[in-house]
Amino acid sequence: MPRAIISPSVLASDFGKLSSECQRMMDGGAEWLHMDVMDGHFVPNITMGPPILQCVHKGVPGIFMDCHMMVSDPEKWVDDVAKAGGGLYCFHYEATKDPLALVKQIRSAGMKAGIAISPDTPSNVITDEIGNAVDMILVMTVHPGRGGQKFIEGCVPKVSELRARFPQQNIEVDGGVGPKTVDVCANAGSNVIVAGTAIFGAEDPEGVIQQLKASVET
Ligand code: DX5
Ligand code: ZN
Repeated sequence: MPRAIISPSVLASDFGKLSSECQRMMDGGAEWLHMDVMDGHFVPNITMGPPILQCVHKGVPGIFMDCHMMVSDPEKWVDDVAKAGGGLYCFHYEATKDPLALVKQIRSAGMKAGIAISPDTPSNVITDEIGNAVDMILVMTVHPGRGGQKFIEGCVPKVSELRARFPQQNIEVDGGVGPKTVDVCANAGSNVIVAGTAIFGAEDPEGVIQQLKASVET
């Protein structure tokens, strides 16, 4: 399995001090920062866009922004997110007609590419071609749209199925993941763990990052 990566979701952080929250996560051992971009159309909420990503990128040297694009027309934001310093651009399968073309566009803009599937989307929409073309597959374990929701265990078999087909691929889980639910994800084969509430809501966020990492590594 590829190496363990912890990607704290800043959706659960204090947006008023976003850069210092990101820095704190990196100092605590987080490799990536998960940036939830919502457009009020693909999902009902609006969160942050390229101008905020750019400020964080400038304010936090060395940050790797794992941009989860919960947007309609993901093709439209590739250049802006790349210019803002995005490291990985993860679009939703449900939002695009031509995933392969979009992967090419993302790569040409200088970012890594990810594809996300929502809880109601089966894993077999990830064809061998698209699964091998991306840098990461994201299996949502809540319905996209807001943080702090309950982990949907029924999504876990999709992780196992995708891990069997793509042994070297990064497989991320996102939504309701924390110390209580990470083991089932890691055992199924996920190596990239997103956690928002479980990290930012904890008394010892750095301790939770280490705990999550240890669960994936063992
Ligand atoms: C949900 C987002 C998630 C979410 C994770 O739409 O994509 O990244 O914020 O937050 P928790 O860990 O609180 O479920
Ligand atoms: Zn997310």
